[in-house]
Amino acid sequence: MSVTAKVNQPLAEVAADAAAVEQLYAELGALFDSELVGARDGEELKKLRDRWLGRKQGLLTFSNDHWLKSAPRPLKPAVGKLQNELKTRVEQALEEQAARAAQSARSEPRIDLTLPGPERPLGARHPVRIVQEEVESIFRSLGYSVSSGPEIESDYYNFEALNFPSDHPARDAMDTIFITDRMLLRTHTSPNQIRIMERTPPPLRYIVPGKVYRNDAPDASHSPMFHQVEGFAVDEKISFCDLKGTIDYFLKSLFGAAIRTRFRPSFFPFTEPSAEVDISCLFCAQTGCRVCKGSGWIELLGCGMVDPAVFSFVQVDTTQYSGFAFGMGVERLAMLKYGVQDIQQFYHGDVRFLHQFR
Ligand code: DAH
Repeated sequence: MSVTAKVNQPLAEVAADAAAVEQLYAELGALFDSELVGARDGEELKKLRDRWLGRKQGLLTFSNDHWLKSAPRPLKPAVGKLQNELKTRVEQALEEQAARAAQSARSEPRIDLTLPGPERPLGARHPVRIVQEEVESIFRSLGYSVSSGPEIESDYYNFEALNFPSDHPARDAMDTIFITDRMLLRTHTSPNQIRIMERTPPPLRYIVPGKVYRNDAPDASHSPMFHQVEGFAVDEKISFCDLKGTIDYFLKSLFGAAIRTRFRPSFFPFTEPSAEVDISCLFCAQTGCRVCKGSGWIELLGCGMVDPAVFSFVQVDTTQYSGFAFGMGVERLAMLKYGVQDIQQFYHGDVRFLHQFR
């Protein structure tokens, strides 16, 4: 018979002597202990209190009414003592457990479903990438294709086929990072003129954006890695006028129709004639400032007509075709466009900087 059934019997039916009575209360106490473990919140504790201490149906009310009241006189004091002890223990345990439940309910975080969720930080496009894509889109609108080439390049593509003879001083100006005698990190994107002309006959209109490398100490205007965009067009009857018109249109698309452009004679081994292109200073309306060093002009890119010596490396017939080429630094464009004064800011990955260009 279970102890919950026994509490409904008179004492004489379930215990013969003092030892048996003690055993009986021990059993009842053990049952309470096991039920207390499962009662965690206020609701469950209230049910447990009713089950044990309920005035009419409580298990301890039954044990009081059935066992204590029917106990034979000699056992009565012992039964009374056990009954009281158990009752006190049950009351105390229930109270302590209720206090613990209230405490943990307070410390559990309450979830307010009306609050906005945690902000998930969004990445941003890098300003160099934004400008590069803008350059691409301007040239795409002019019918140019976008291509790419390897960053680890051979001496042949980076120099020789671009008409830098092996002992030519122009090679030194490039501050090349060599990997082996013949392999290097490309110092410019111009090798792609050769790569594309080798595999595709004219007419050609291409731009090639990408990373380039030079053994330069980093400072506000130098970085050992930066980005260039190379461009070239090869077709019948391409003239310097086409070059000027294209570059002028491109720079006005990028910096606004109000700017002016200026072509100055220059030298590159792979173009003849060569020019450097300046734009009117964006910061001082050509009155002279720190950015343009008082000149009113900002130097922006190199260009020229493709040198016949370059065409001879890729078997383009110079009696039929001519072409122009140009190259520019993307960071430089981005610094001017966004007024960034230190090129190093592009490489730190500081989100406070990068988020300004979204
Ligand atoms: N490759 C040159 C450099 O890195 C830039 C350049 C100048 C590219 C003139 C050209 C060009 O295509 O025609 O300094």
